[in-house]
Amino acid sequence: MSVRLQKFLADAQVASRRKSEEIILSGRVRVNGVTVTELGTKVEENDSVEVDGKPVKPAQKLVYIMLHKPEGYITSAKDQFGRPTVLDLVKSEYRLYPVGRLDYDTSGLLLLTNDGDMTYRLTHPKHNVEKTYIAHIVGTPTEDELRRFESGLEIDGYTTAPAKIKILKRSKLTTVKITIHEGKNRQVRKMCAAIGHEVKALKRAATGRLSLDGLEKGQYRELTDEEIKYLKTL
Ligand code: URA
Repeated sequence: MSVRLQKFLADAQVASRRKSEEIILSGRVRVNGVTVTELGTKVEENDSVEVDGKPVKPAQKLVYIMLHKPEGYITSAKDQFGRPTVLDLVKSEYRLYPVGRLDYDTSGLLLLTNDGDMTYRLTHPKHNVEKTYIAHIVGTPTEDELRRFESGLEIDGYTTAPAKIKILKRSKLTTVKITIHEGKNRQVRKMCAAIGHEVKALKRAATGRLSLDGLEKGQYRELTDEEIKYLKTL
């Protein structure tokens, strides 16, 4: 795919489009070793472009993926025990990174991207995007336990921020919907354990307004432009 030289420079963050035009006109740009002063010269992916003799790295396409992570995969690029990782599930020509984590034994919504700024913002502790989980727990919490869960619990010497818990279904296990804003290690499991109810299965159903919808376990899709725009507002 070819692009106009000034756009190539602007996308690569050399300068604004207008300023890039000036840079080209002033003879500071070489394409494959040849000085180019004509605006609108097309460059291809593999062309080498230099400004003032320094190579310009082409902008990388930013990719945003939503994965329905199955249990049995770790959320990291490599595992010391050789267990499968979420990157084994997503085929991409780009080097993607998971945004935050889900435990090995947790399933659900996991974002992957090569947009480092987005990963940084969404995983920064001050960022308190709401996350919704569906948990299957042992026993049924009492009113008092539900209140304690919602108002803050002591786990690992730390008091959790206010959270929400709603009983959806009582069967052999109880199904609850949990909403938290934090993302401490195994937080949902530890919060449930703190009110005396072990988690037997856990799934993240939503991150903010993004939800798994019809994605089956192991399936993934690119985010829509609207979803990407929304994440950038968070
Ligand atoms: N809380 C947990 O306990 N585990 C997860 O994977 C995510 C949230």
